[in-house]
Amino acid sequence: MKQTTSFTCTVCGAAYRKWAGKCDACGGWNTIVEEAPLSTGPKSLGAKGRPIPLSDLATEEAPPPRASSGIAELDRVLGGGLVPASAILVGGDPGIGKSTLLLQAAASFARKGLKCLYISGEEASAQVRMRAQRLGLTDAPVGLGAETNLRDILTTLDAERPALAIIDSIQTMWLDSVEAAPGSVSQVRAAAHELVSFAKRRGVAVILVGHVTKEGQIAGPRVVEHMVDTVLYFEGERGHQFRILRAVKNRFGPADEIGVFEMTGGGLAEVPNPSALFLANRDQPAPGSAVFSGIEGTRPVLTEIQALVAPSTLASPRRTVVGLDSGRVSTILAVLEARCGIPFAGLDVFLNVAGGLRVNEPAADLAVAGALLSAREDVAIPPDMVLFGEISLSGALRPVGQTENRLKEASKLGFSQATVPSRSKIEGASGLTVRQMPDLTAFVGEMFGAG
Ligand code: TYD
Ligand code: MG
Repeated sequence: MKQTTSFTCTVCGAAYRKWAGKCDACGGWNTIVEEAPLSTGPKSLGAKGRPIPLSDLATEEAPPPRASSGIAELDRVLGGGLVPASAILVGGDPGIGKSTLLLQAAASFARKGLKCLYISGEEASAQVRMRAQRLGLTDAPVGLGAETNLRDILTTLDAERPALAIIDSIQTMWLDSVEAAPGSVSQVRAAAHELVSFAKRRGVAVILVGHVTKEGQIAGPRVVEHMVDTVLYFEGERGHQFRILRAVKNRFGPADEIGVFEMTGGGLAEVPNPSALFLANRDQPAPGSAVFSGIEGTRPVLTEIQALVAPSTLASPRRTVVGLDSGRVSTILAVLEARCGIPFAGLDVFLNVAGGLRVNEPAADLAVAGALLSAREDVAIPPDMVLFGEISLSGALRPVGQTENRLKEASKLGFSQATVPSRSKIEGASGLTVRQMPDLTAFVGEMFGAG
């Protein structure tokens, strides 16, 4: 069999078929080295290995015991608490509040009797202590370290054997066996690999912090996503006080679960009822506003979708979309135009989800269409109405999952009407007046006159 060797840039991790003096990816000179192939497999089938013990699918195993942090929104996103020996990545923009969240989490775990170490590679211990003071956490027995050398960190973890180690951030860590700058793809990958395999071997849960980077100089958290059990992203607009912790991958719980926090002067506060928060300040009926009853992870969350439609002076009018998929919005505009005869040509369209939440569900289609039509026709949707339903390309409305949960949440928050697709399962009476629509044309006729 022909052996394939590969060449890798030691700085950025780009792979090449043959050696070159300059790396095209990062522009570094003399950084490409030959790498031994990872594994060549057994030389011949005659060579015997050890047989591995096998079990069958029916083997009963207890679910992993979980440690609760006492921060309910964090536990929810983790899938019900921290799983021992798991590896978790927490990504997010710089300054969004990752260090704050994890220091609060460490303190909370520590107060519950879990041994916690917080290793900061970005801040001096004094800085971390200052933050702890500001957050009122100085009494929590958290072990604090300021170090970037992974060999020293692993030696410390091995000696201390904490239940949880927080590494803030993975981009500052470096291994002396890898000849590349800290923050480069190869360092970040190697450091994450060492930490994750240490976690599994020694039964220590690790949380890695990763900054989302805009440029290619520093490796982003994406390069280690595949190595960890759970990937959480901390999102939010810097100007807004709301922060959303979202699980995008979780081997121990549902993905797409969100935890909602509010950044206050005293750190992050939990928001146990996000619907009320996202719908705040809605007393006057206003054109261009529609309330969507959505599902985030396992719970219903109500959000307000806002639209503004204005005459455009541009040859190709603006389509500015925040918090929604812009491809999806273009589709809805096209369906409105082609199936209902409502043109948006020559009109600028601005769409926004209030509060800084991102809505990815197709179920939001009807609320988006409602907000767009309401803005265009200057007719307000009744402020006590929620909308949800998927719009197909034919203009038909399709029922979506968890209809009852969506209606129940709306009823709980004082809404009294709902507009949903025909054939939705609405048996469980929720006290709402539910209107069922077969297609978008019927919806337009009912809500906005002839359209
Ligand atoms: P930080 O946790 O340092 O962000 P990251 O680790 O993601 O880079 O948070 C920094 C921001 O949070 C900073 O702009 C100040 C703000 N903040 C508060 O508003 N209140 C607080 O109690 C704390 C500690 C920080
Ligand atoms: Mg930080």
